[in-house]
Amino acid sequence: MTEEKKDNLFEKKISRRQMLKMTGVGAAGVAIGASGMGGILSAFGRNNAVEEDKTNVKNKVKFYGKNQSGIMTPSQTNIYFASLTVLVKTKAELAQLFKDWTPAAVKLMNGETVGDVTNIMVPPADTGEAVGLDAKNLTLTFGVGPSLFKKFDFGDQKPKELKDLPHFPKDQLQEEYSGGDICIQACADDPQVAFHAVRNLIRIATGRVSLKWSQAGFNAIPMKNGKPETPRNLFAFKDGTENPRDAADADRVVFIQSGESKSWLTGGTYLVARKVQMHLETWDRTALDEQEATFGRHRDTGAPLGKTSEFEAMEIDRKDKNGENVVPETSHVFLAKKANVRLLRRSYSYASGVMDSTGTHDAGLLFISFQKDPNQFIKIQNSLGRMDKMNEYITHRGSALFACFPGVKKGSFIGEALFNTL
Ligand code: HEM
Repeated sequence: MTEEKKDNLFEKKISRRQMLKMTGVGAAGVAIGASGMGGILSAFGRNNAVEEDKTNVKNKVKFYGKNQSGIMTPSQTNIYFASLTVLVKTKAELAQLFKDWTPAAVKLMNGETVGDVTNIMVPPADTGEAVGLDAKNLTLTFGVGPSLFKKFDFGDQKPKELKDLPHFPKDQLQEEYSGGDICIQACADDPQVAFHAVRNLIRIATGRVSLKWSQAGFNAIPMKNGKPETPRNLFAFKDGTENPRDAADADRVVFIQSGESKSWLTGGTYLVARKVQMHLETWDRTALDEQEATFGRHRDTGAPLGKTSEFEAMEIDRKDKNGENVVPETSHVFLAKKANVRLLRRSYSYASGVMDSTGTHDAGLLFISFQKDPNQFIKIQNSLGRMDKMNEYITHRGSALFACFPGVKKGSFIGEALFNTL
């Protein structure tokens, strides 16, 4: 089938709901009208000027580099994660989308507005809610999902490992929290800055993408002697203790090295997102020793069971005087470690109101991991399987996999290597 024919088929599949989204979320889009939208596009659309990382900005993470930001960057307090459906029909239009996002992403990470906000004759090019705030360590991480490669024929550039994750025991996934053609992970030390970034990137792409699902999340990061400590999840356990910490470790575990996948992914990584509901009410009725046996760590210190400090070695084979495992064989950490592979976890808690059916908290963890091969995640999740004691307290509700591009060189654009290989 020719690319045009495929494109036509795809066009026909666009639903009324998507059409409304394309026009700027229903009524709002209609209200802006054609002239207003033209003003927005002329203010920042198709503007591929090269923006620079500013050096005189407070709380600023660099946009340009070997790897994208938001992966090995120390965790910020907030995330706004967006999964998008692509509506454009040609690869040229898709490339243009990333070209348009590149200067905007640099500006957002500089703490600047994405365009002119002074012309009173048109809607302001930036939505404005981050004005007066600094860069708040905003990071933006872009990735592409397996479904994008079903819509566009990238030939042999599709990496074999970029495919939907398998079904795991106890999964109760919902389509409305799963999948997506493109992801934008915005993390910042301010919820409004993270949201503003995604909102404006989507606005720049009006008519070219629609929002499939999104999730806001938070972390509290205690400081000790000016240094960040491991944040606690909503079960109150330190989460992120065992993680790659330096660049050499990240190259072994997280970032794809030359020859390890398709060349456009060298310096990139795979992002797994899982929306995991945590049954807080059940957890809160569980005795502390049972809670600690669930994870295999002490709640207060984060130390491995039987030890006193957080970063002491986790020895899952250690026995007590009766020959029993000190770290229970059904504990989360025992099973995760038994898989004998590693990944980088960079998760955020969420609280999204009330579960309609039960009147309980709709809260949990937006689990995010980065790894150079999705199989690292798959092996661990399979090891957790049905055995993980934590299963009594959680339900996996959403799932997505994205291949995250390498970092951007000045003068280039996000994902350029994928389009250059064609
Ligand atoms: C609501 C869901 C989850 C919660 C609350 C949770 C919580 C935790 C906690 C408290 C630890 C111990 C401290 C640490 O090393 O960070 C831990 C370790 C770990 N978790 Fe999870 N986790 C969840 C889901 C997952 C998933 C889905 C995976 C991957 C498939 C995973 C993989 C790991 C790994 C690899 C470790 C480190 C084990 C080691 O010490 O080598 N976790 N998790």
